[in-house]
Amino acid sequence: MLPDFVASQVDLTPYNTLALPARAEFLARIQSVEQLAALIRHPEFSGRRRFVLGGGSNLLVAGDFSGFVLHMSIPGKRRIGEDATHIYLAAAAGENWSDFVAWTLASGWPGLENLSGIPGTAGAAPIQNIGAYGAEVGDFLQQLTALDLARGETLVFDVRDCALGYRDSLFKREGWHLSGRYAITEVVFRLPKNWRARATYGEVAARLAQDGITNPTPAQLAQVITALRAQKIPDPRQLPNAGSFFQNPKVSAELAAALQHAHPRLPCYPQSDGSVKLAAAWLVEHAGWKGRNLGPVGMYEQQALVLVNRGGASCRDVQNLSRAVREAVFARFGVSLVPEPVILADSGDAGNTSLSL
Ligand code: EPU
Repeated sequence: MLPDFVASQVDLTPYNTLALPARAEFLARIQSVEQLAALIRHPEFSGRRRFVLGGGSNLLVAGDFSGFVLHMSIPGKRRIGEDATHIYLAAAAGENWSDFVAWTLASGWPGLENLSGIPGTAGAAPIQNIGAYGAEVGDFLQQLTALDLARGETLVFDVRDCALGYRDSLFKREGWHLSGRYAITEVVFRLPKNWRARATYGEVAARLAQDGITNPTPAQLAQVITALRAQKIPDPRQLPNAGSFFQNPKVSAELAAALQHAHPRLPCYPQSDGSVKLAAAWLVEHAGWKGRNLGPVGMYEQQALVLVNRGGASCRDVQNLSRAVREAVFARFGVSLVPEPVILADSGDAGNTSLSL
């Protein structure tokens, strides 16, 4: 008999913000590390496929899943301590990211305000190194604790071990987020005491200037950022979506120069490694896909990078649109877009986004 926190044949529609329908053979609602440790010792768990699920806000559910979906719902947030330069805070994996940021600000510990309003959980945040408005979670990560689901060992990964990059980490590069090798159980953040506003991001600076704010407080920055997000990313409860559907592509300086010569308004962001990041939203818009639908899905009219489910979409519909957009961008600009969401699928191959989308 499986423990009572495991349900069988569960509809996953409410567990993914794109609202794609599928069934999980088993869904375990994990509310403590002890529950997780007990489950992985259970004879019915061993040898079965498993998938570690956070808020489902960067997820593409590709079909029914045979095995265990581990819905990480462990609650808890606390101040661990401080030293001369930093405050240290811990968030359990199931904490809602946006609520956690709001709690830090309300408690008088600024730093995370640029990451206000991002959906998902604290435990998922480091996997794709969530970022927005000139900040990334990696700027504040100290360490994380994870349970090795095969061996039952608890491991601590220092921020350097996590090898974070743009929407990337060791966990993602190694495919551990797809294979369910580890479940992150707790994340520790360090917030510098000498707080400085990060307000150089174009839109943020423009909105502050418009409001006549020259020295924004953390609360004012959080407010501006929440308002900007709300304009561009629909509330998934009203219009299901998974945030940015494609990553901003990094290309060589030569290609960027050639593209900018042909399209002087193309936004380009030079990187420290000599490459140039392009605005995927601009490419999608200028390939003719902003506000355009294909079947029940479309690219959002306020932000061309956000793929929305207008009602009743299947994974196949999302795949068709993703392919059409990628082909249009490639045909017009010679740039390959890489999808951002993780794929929940039965077959290991389907987990490879570049193959299936
Ligand atoms: N743009 C267009 N058309 C559009 C939208 C934007 O041409 O429809 C242009 C804008 O003019 C701007 C550029 O594209 O010059 C960048 O747009 P924006 O500032 O909206 O940011 P983004 O690069 O599209 C990224 C993140 C978002 C994050 C915002 C804000 C990625 C893939 N996306 O979007 O993160 O909220 O910056 O910092 O890096 C997410 O990852 O799910 C996500 C929402």
